[in-house]
Amino acid sequence: MRTTLVTGAARGIGRAIAERLLEDGHNILASDMLSDALDSLRDTYPDRVEVIRQDITEADAPDAAVTLAMERFGRLDGLVNNAGVGHSRPVHEVDDEMLDRFLAVNVRAQFRFARSALNAFGAGGNIINIASIFGLRSSVGSGPYAMSKAAIVGLTRQLATDYGPRGIRANAVAPGLIETPMTADRIQNDREFRRIMVDTTPFPRVGTPNDIANAVAFLASDQAAFVSGHVLVVDGGWLAGNNPRDTGAENIHVS
Ligand SMILES: NC(=O)c1ccc[n+]([C@@H]2O[C@H](COP(=O)([O-])OP(=O)(O)OC[C@H]3O[C@@H](n4cnc5c(N)ncnc54)[C@H](O)[C@@H]3O)[C@@H](O)[C@H]2O)c1
Repeated sequence: MRTTLVTGAARGIGRAIAERLLEDGHNILASDMLSDALDSLRDTYPDRVEVIRQDITEADAPDAAVTLAMERFGRLDGLVNNAGVGHSRPVHEVDDEMLDRFLAVNVRAQFRFARSALNAFGAGGNIINIASIFGLRSSVGSGPYAMSKAAIVGLTRQLATDYGPRGIRANAVAPGLIETPMTADRIQNDREFRRIMVDTTPFPRVGTPNDIANAVAFLASDQAAFVSGHVLVVDGGWLAGNNPRDTGAENIHVS
């Protein structure tokens, strides 16, 4: 039975990913800072979930998680690098503390977890990094968040290039706007954010954590056996056009 380490598994997208991979038969090593929510996940499948409460930026966090997976389940087959922080600011408003936080959580920790997983994988392996549409295209005021997610796209391609010959696949999922504890307040209260992110999405709704979990489940499965180095965008079409809805069909001229 495959064992997959999921970071940020307590809530939001990571929680949905962990639950979906459990449905698909994986053992899950669930990592997060929020222990109560982790415990509730373990209660759903006590025999197939092990939890570790950790800050992923701590020096020993990646090796501690990988070691626990090996001790508990005897193998590690996959890593979903999901934990991250969001809601950054325009570059001129970002102090060094905020910059360092984005780089530490969203980039450095993903790199270090990937390295630890690579050292633990057996004959093959599977790394799925959660990037963002902002790693592929800029949007207003995304500052260090966009930079961090672009780095994740680069890391994904590098992993795919270097470790394919070992039978290890690496892919990224780039979510559009997904309603989670990270975004719920802005979706509810920030009209400009809604205008940029929701009103301009061709498929006019906010995404759900399950939308992302479904994409991860595909990439984690054998159906994606020849898919590596790919960035799977799950955004209701936002990245394809991003045109304000009020430039509707009557403004499209066909000559
Ligand atoms: N929600 C969206 O619209 C959206 C869009 C694009 C990308 N993403 C990405 O998806 C991922 C998950 O986002 P989400 O919306 O579910 O966020 P969330 O804030 O709801 O959940 C993130 C989880 O990661 C954990 N976490 C954060 N920092 C941690 C740390 N240092 N150590 C341990 N655990 C930590 C949190 O405790 C939380 O459980 C992130 O990488 C985010 O950038 C989200």
